[in-house]
Amino acid sequence: MQVIILENPEQVAQHASKWVVELISKKAKPVLGLATGSTPISLYKNLVRSHQEDQIDFSHVTSFNLDEYHNIDAENEQSYCAFMKDNLFDKINIDQRNTHLPTCNKHENPRTQGLAFEEKIQHAGGIDLQILGIGANGHIGFNEPSSSLSSRTRLKTLTKQTLQDNSRLFKADEYQPTMAMTMGISTILDAEYVLLMATGDNKAKAVNEMISGPLSAKCPASALQLHEHAIVVLDKAAASELTNQDYFIWANAEHQKINNTYGFFL
Ligand code: F6R
Repeated sequence: MQVIILENPEQVAQHASKWVVELISKKAKPVLGLATGSTPISLYKNLVRSHQEDQIDFSHVTSFNLDEYHNIDAENEQSYCAFMKDNLFDKINIDQRNTHLPTCNKHENPRTQGLAFEEKIQHAGGIDLQILGIGANGHIGFNEPSSSLSSRTRLKTLTKQTLQDNSRLFKADEYQPTMAMTMGISTILDAEYVLLMATGDNKAKAVNEMISGPLSAKCPASALQLHEHAIVVLDKAAASELTNQDYFIWANAEHQKINNTYGFFL
């Protein structure tokens, strides 16, 4: 695991956007895995700026989102589909026919939908770079604690903590979905590279468990310990519970020299 500790959330976003820009500039048919939530919003702002000011081209990019609420219309402003359009897709030149979310509506079978989503990822050649956030309870995607480490895209019931954490995004009288389709932990581990962004001290405990804790379904993000190319980009607050911060800062400075010469990707 490559752990990168930066000063503040803006630097985290800038760093993550460099990975994305390098991937889509280098690859003929890049496949991006995307996340929603508060953390990647500043990454998407950076990508929009790169498109507008540096003419970064997204027309050849295919994307797959981690999750989508169960039985929600794409037009509903709370849907992750609407989130992605507002924050990214409508502001860059991606072909929106090549953007995919694991949707499942009322009369659709979640198992069939999950399988179809997995097949679409395979058909696109697999995900090159998966962007992730982390829940305060250690979830990645909506793989809540106790999720199978070999899970694939399926319907999950959200925990009370996740519902509480996300309630800030819903108005008092607005319906908050309690179930979501999510890529499984195995689906996420299949990506060639994963880049997890975490900012703020409310993530510090989960970040420490992910990096230094045992591999356990109790902290689903700890499954990233099994990934060959997992990059974790943190601000100081999110890194605050890590005991070996000095090592990570030093190791990252060493890596930086390699990356400056050869780029991020192998
Ligand atoms: C979002 C997702 C979630 C979030 C996590 C952190 O697509 O899959 O795992 O990444 O809940 O959310 P924020 O960034 O709002 O703290």
